[in-house]
Formats: sequence, C-alpha cells, structure tokens
Amino acid sequence: MNSGPALSNLSSETRHFDPPADLAANANVTAEAYEQASTDRLAFWAEQARRLDWTTEWSEILDWQPPFAKWFVGGTLNAAVNCVDRHVEAGIGERVALHFEGEPGDTRSITYAELQKEVAKAANALTELGVQQGDRVMIYLPMIPEAVVAMLACARLGAPHSVVFGGFSADSLRTRIGDTGAKLMITADGGYRRGKPGALKPTADAAIEGTAVDTMLVVRRTGEDVDFTEGRDHWWHDVVDRQEDTHEAEAFDAENPLFILYTSGTTAKPKGILHTTGGYLTQTAYTHHAVFDLKPVTDVYWCTADIGWVTGHSYIVYGPLANGATQVIYEGTPDTPHKGRFWEIVQKYGVTLLYTAPTAIRTFMKWGDDIPAGFDLSTLRILGSVGEPINPEAWMWYREHIGHDNCPIVDTWWQTETGAMMIAPLPGVTSTKPGSAQVALPGVSVDVVDESGTAVGDGEGGYLVLSEPWPAMLRGIWGDDERYKDTYWSRFDSMYFAGDGAKKDDDGDLWLLGRVDDVMNISGHRISTTEIESALVSHPKVAEAAVVGASDATTGQAIVAFVILRGSAAESAEDDEQAGEDLIQELRNHVGREIGPIAKPRQVMLVPELPKTRSGKIMRRLLKDIAEQREIGDVTTLNDSTIMDVIADKMPAAAAKED
Ligand code: WT7
Repeated sequence: MNSGPALSNLSSETRHFDPPADLAANANVTAEAYEQASTDRLAFWAEQARRLDWTTEWSEILDWQPPFAKWFVGGTLNAAVNCVDRHVEAGIGERVALHFEGEPGDTRSITYAELQKEVAKAANALTELGVQQGDRVMIYLPMIPEAVVAMLACARLGAPHSVVFGGFSADSLRTRIGDTGAKLMITADGGYRRGKPGALKPTADAAIEGTAVDTMLVVRRTGEDVDFTEGRDHWWHDVVDRQEDTHEAEAFDAENPLFILYTSGTTAKPKGILHTTGGYLTQTAYTHHAVFDLKPVTDVYWCTADIGWVTGHSYIVYGPLANGATQVIYEGTPDTPHKGRFWEIVQKYGVTLLYTAPTAIRTFMKWGDDIPAGFDLSTLRILGSVGEPINPEAWMWYREHIGHDNCPIVDTWWQTETGAMMIAPLPGVTSTKPGSAQVALPGVSVDVVDESGTAVGDGEGGYLVLSEPWPAMLRGIWGDDERYKDTYWSRFDSMYFAGDGAKKDDDGDLWLLGRVDDVMNISGHRISTTEIESALVSHPKVAEAAVVGASDATTGQAIVAFVILRGSAAESAEDDEQAGEDLIQELRNHVGREIGPIAKPRQVMLVPELPKTRSGKIMRRLLKDIAEQREIGDVTTLNDSTIMDVIADKMPAAAAKED
C-alpha cells in the first residue's frame, strides 16, 4: 500500500482566467516579487517588515534552531500602535476603520482616531484590573467592535490574548482557560444570532469555575439580564468608559507572544497555537496588501469570518488594520433576516474586497442564483476563499454570480499554525484556475512530497510540506514543545508537515486535496475526498457533497457520498422516490465519467445538511461512522449536533450497491 503514489491525481481542469488588465496594470505586487524573494528570501522579508513602524531595528532577520524560529531578533515594536496610532499620526485619523453591522440592523462606524481612543481606554482599564505584559487574557465575545478593541488593548500591553469563539461550550472554554492560566476574561452578556439574543455570560460563568480567572470584564450588548458577581465582574461601560483616552504604549520584543489560539487536533486536548509579534504582523500585513491588492483609500474590505478563528485574527484585526484598511464587520448569520443579507451588506457599504469560505459559497449556491442577483454587487473587485478546498464549480459560481466574471478569485491556503496566507494567486499576476490555490506566495517555500519526503513531479500527488521557516509561523504549542515537534516536524526531516494532501498539476500549480486523515484507499489507490466531492459538485443539481471511505470487504474501502441538492432538485427528489433513485444513479455515473470508474461511489445518500464544525469544516469522521453503520462518535465539536440524527435516519439498513 505504500509503494504507489502517495495520492492519486484524478481530476483535471483546463479553464483559466487572466487578471483584468486594469487590475494587473495597477497591482500592488507584480511578478517581480517572486524573483526578488527567491534571490534573497530573508532580505525580502526584511523589506516587508519595514512596512511596520519599529521602535528598535532588529539585529538579525532570522535565528533558526529547528524547529524553533525567532524572526527580527532584537527588534521592538508595539502591535496596537502599528494597527492604529501610526495611522492617526500619519493624518488619516478620520478614515473609517470599522463599519460595524449588528445582526438586528444597528450600525456603528468607527474611525482610526476613535479606535485609538477606545483602545487606549481599554488598555488603561485592563491595567487598572491588574493586567501586565505576559499575562494571558481570555476573550469570549460576539462579533462586535469591542472584540477588536479588546484584542488590540491586550496587544498594546504585551499581554497575549486567547480568543475563544462564542459558539463554544462552557467545557471547551474551561479547557482553554485552564491551559492558558489566564486570570481575566473579557466577555459580554450575549450577542445576536438568527434574530434572537444568545447569552454568553452564563457560559462564561460556568466555564471559569475551578480556573484561575478571578476578574471578568463584561460588555453589554443585548441588555438581557445576567448574574453579576460583586467584586469579580465589571461592566465594560463602567470601567472602560471612565478611563483617559490616551495611553503611552511600550515597545515589546519582536518575539513577545501576541496570542494563543486553540485549534483541535487528533486528540481531545486542543492545541494552543502560539504566535508572536514582529514576524506575524509582517506577514499578515504583507499578504493582505499583496493578495487583496488593498488600496486603503478606495477599497472597502469585508472578511466574513468570526474573530474567534485565525482568519479573524489575521485578516480582520492585524493585517487589515496594520494596512490602514476600511472594513466591514458583521455580527450575525447570512440568512438573518433574509438569505440576501450578505449581498445587502456588500451593496450598502460598497464592498470591493470580499473574503469568505467555501462552505458559505456552497450554501449560497444551494439557496439559488436569484438571491445575489437582486443586489448591486458591481463594486466588488477581488473575491477571496479560505478554510477548505474550494470545488471548481463552487469557484465558478462565485466568479459568475458574485464576481460577474470580472473579479479574480484568490483561493488562499493557510492554517492557524501558519498564521498568514502561504499559497494563493496574486490577483494582478496569476492566471487563476478554478479550484487551485496555485503557487506559494513570494518568500514562502512549499513542496509536495512522497512518503519518503522526496518532491513529487508535476502531475503527481503527495503530502504538502513547508520547507523553510516563515515569519508568521507558530512559535510552538503553548506549554508543550514535545507535542509541537511531534505534530509538525517528525514526519519529514527538517520540513513542516501541514497534514494536507496536495498535487502539482502539469504546470506545477498546487491543488489542495484535503486532510490526509480523510484520504481513502480504494483497491490500493489513495484517492482524495476532495476530488470526488468536486466531481459531484460539478453536477448541476448538486450544491454540496462530502465523501468518505467506508470499509468494504472487496475493495478495502468503498466510496460513500453524502450529497445536498440545489433548491428545486431537492424538492423533486423529496417528493418522488423514483426521481430520487434515478438521480442517485445519475450522480454515480457522473462521477464515473468525470474521474474514472474507480471513483464511482458505492452509495450516494441525499441529505438535507452535513455535519460541520463551528468553523464550517465538514466532519467526515462522523459520516464515516454512519457509512460503516457504527455508533456515532463524539459530536461535541459539531455546530449542530441534531444533524447526525437526521442523516442517520436517511441511511438504509444495509444498502450496499455494487456494480
Ligand atoms: C486547514 C487549516 C486558514 C484559516 C482558516 C482555517 C484547510 C484552509 C484552504 C484552502 C484547501 C484549505 C486545510 C488546512 N484549508 N484553507 N484554501 N484550500 N484547504 O484554519 O482551522 O487552522 O484549518 O484548513 O486543510 O490545513 P484552520
């Protein structure tokens, strides 16, 4: 089983789209950047670091004691000053930093000058509450401006923040608090979601029990009644609002911890991914400038991620604000109060740069083309995607129905661990291909290798690795150096193993094939779930698909596909059993035609929803339990745990269909 290629290369894509001429002519970054970076990678990153304001210049660009890196050694800076104060000093204090759109429709626009005052007040408040450099601060907030202010206030004090997504339970929150050893938490009474206030404070109260947290700073967002513990709990508006609106910022070492962000691993214990200041800020700011071609005066940028994920850290807070961007932040869900909410926001603020996830794009496909067609999306000029491989058809849909065929799509591959984008097209340079993240960004070294760590050739698949350290790389797992070495650096000699499968096409462009834990083995062929899923999504009736390998007596594993149909197709399959059966055969044959007979699913199940994590990734492990007719495993990380019952109900008792 280990003798063949690490991963088969099955699908092929011939469509490609050149950058619009005017975008190419005015692009922030041209093809020269690749050359410059390959001539002298460290000098290239040093030049990017000069985009920031440093109090002390570094003495050494990189100190690399594998696998531990220090970037910009000896340099000092303040992240909050770089994201806020320096813009005010440069005379652009009146520029809007944040257009906040609350789910109920309340709005606030905050200029850089106002943001500076808010951050100063919050930093003064945290100081009064005892926070000092190095103290960890938990942040458990909805998507409101105070979340950005809180993060920046921590950064200003050199106190690493650890943001936990508001959808996590008390237990998940408690584990993370315990691991950081934080003593203070910033939370809110609640936030709005799906048209109703959802409480956060009771979860926060339950989570801190048995931890070191003895102080809570609580933002009033919904106005719902909450329990308040005298002496421990403080309202944000009481403590922050009465502070001085200036604050003298201290410069910290480039390697001062900026944040810890938890990401789930293969074991139950989440990994606290540690990021530091100078290198992280350099790469987030540079990539945001390069990949979104940000023109700070005219662009309106919107990243739809939540602040609780790394995308929110790197591409809502640190990258865009370091670049002086004007951006939209939105509190709620895309279907509240109607399924056109995102497009209404694009129209209202004249959004030019949009960054969202494949899971959202496939959901919009399912809802139908007519919804975005009802809004003016003509301001858009670049569309980004992140979080999962984007299927070529979802990419095409995004291009046509959102970008109206004139916006480059930048599919950005990176991870919580990488801190910033690593693989992505440059919108003014790259001829983009639907479904491919394409090439490593300037200054980033990526390869695809086989089992033995040898680079595969064009047209072949294998494991994605990063072969040189990069400025925004994780500096470790909080408190667990051994786990850091084991997880990322032990599989291949002196290369970072990302855990993803990938292939190089005949032009050497990169295609991400999903997590290697999800790879299937069909009659001795390693096949990626992503390629089969993309083949299914290329059928006009399919909106979304998830594929797993279920154990099979004949083939080792057999492909089982879970498919969500697009709007009208779903209704007819629901109403007419025969139509549903016919469609299933049609889909099996379609995959056989698109990819080859080996890829034909043994079973196709039509389902209304798929199990997803709170960040929108499909949990194939649970689908595998269903496909193998096992008891369903741990569902605690699911966004909606009832989904599994709905899907299991659809599973015929023993319905193996063999050709
Ligand atoms: C994993 C990292 C990066 C911020 C959000 C997710 C998958 C991410 C892509 C992409 C294919 C992608 C990978 C990666 N992933 N972006 N453009 N194409 N796969 O951060 O939660 O740390 O997840 O997401 O599997 O390893 P994360």
